[in-house]
Amino acid sequence: MRPWFLTLGDLPPAPLKVSPLFERDQPLEIEVGTGRGLFLVNAGVTRPDTNFLGIEYDFKEARRAARRLQKRALPNVRILGADARVVLGKYLTDACAVGLHVYFPDPWWKRRHKKRRIFSAEFLVEAARILKSGGLLNAWTDVEEYFQVMTELVAANPRFEPLPPPSERAAAHDMDYHTSFERKKRKLGLPIYRACWRRKNW
Ligand SMILES: C[S@@+](CC[C@H](N)C(=O)[O-])C[C@H]1O[C@@H](n2cnc3c(N)ncnc32)[C@H](O)[C@@H]1O
Repeated sequence: MRPWFLTLGDLPPAPLKVSPLFERDQPLEIEVGTGRGLFLVNAGVTRPDTNFLGIEYDFKEARRAARRLQKRALPNVRILGADARVVLGKYLTDACAVGLHVYFPDPWWKRRHKKRRIFSAEFLVEAARILKSGGLLNAWTDVEEYFQVMTELVAANPRFEPLPPPSERAAAHDMDYHTSFERKKRKLGLPIYRACWRRKNW
């Protein structure tokens, strides 16, 4: 499965030098909570001039996603099996990425579990740190309440400014969705809330 699937144990001690993980040294985008990897596969194929690092702490899902990358021998996509909070907080260096993607993060419905949500004020501090000026933060969810929380958290962070979100487009086939969760939720007829913010020159 290497080099597509890696764990923190495969890496030298922090801070993480990202470029040796990939075949070419080129701009990096990071996806947090990769799931089955549909975003990474499509993005990796259509944008060969960008490196993509997915972070997923469910190793079964991460390996399943890595098999899809391996099948296509994608040189520009890797998956790190790890807790994204640890990777962002301890491993990734300042201004290492031009994009950060968070799609359908677990909503953790119960009040006492909400602190497990990945999209938090602390997450935004790390997001602002690892993104280059002008870098983009993308977040999508079908959970209206979580979306509102995300929007309010970003509005309270002076390092980001909103951009117009992408509009929904018809899928040409079953793999033509942004992520597996987007496909699942759209097939259920649920609305999808999308946002994009730019890391300001600060
Ligand atoms: C609801 S799924 C969405 C998966 C994918 N983004 C999609 O849209 O199909 C959320 C994913 O985030 C992962 N996840 C949640 N918290 C995480 C964390 N702290 N670090 C890494 N992965 C995380 C979960 O294991 C799960 O695979």
